[in-house]
Amino acid sequence: MTDKELRVSKIRDGTVIDHVTAGQALNVLAILGIDGSGGESVSIGMNVPSDKVGYKDVVKVEGRELSQSEVDVLSLIAPEATINIIRDFEVAEKNRVEQTDTVRGILVCPNHNCITNADEPVRTEFEVLGDGVRCAYCDTIIREGDVAEHIDARGSGETAL
Ligand code: CTP
Ligand code: ZN
Repeated sequence: MTDKELRVSKIRDGTVIDHVTAGQALNVLAILGIDGSGGESVSIGMNVPSDKVGYKDVVKVEGRELSQSEVDVLSLIAPEATINIIRDFEVAEKNRVEQTDTVRGILVCPNHNCITNADEPVRTEFEVLGDGVRCAYCDTIIREGDVAEHIDARGSGETAL
């Protein structure tokens, strides 16, 4: 590794989300529900030169693994991302994100009249289309470029009771 590549220090235990589409790091944090208040140690590289994809973002979270819902939503905004599980400084697992048919939770339906926005304990569910996602309850479509604007800041996609 050259000096130029070493921008963010290595972590001991946690998850490195690598090869994130440049400019999407903050949206990755939103998907993970991380805003700093939870006390997690997080390092972010933005627009870091990458030999594979030109420029990329990198998000490193100490002491945290990702849920399947988080990975599914991640696949919408960072389809080339690699999820590295780090244990005792070593890369213990490396997985590419996979495109899924459905994403559950985390995204919020833009339709205020949707059942998922009523005071009901209904988890959001969206069918993944080629160029966006469609609410399974009301058919409202979120276009691909608008997905990031509909991430639930709390990361759950569930209406509070
Ligand atoms: N990493 C880290 N802390 C560690 C080990 C690895 O932050 N203790 C980071 C590396 O900086 C890199 C990612 O995890 O961003 C994957 O590490 P590694 O597989 O060693 O790097 P590459 O071989 O470059 O990965 P790839 O083949 O996926 O590009
Ligand atoms: Zn809806």
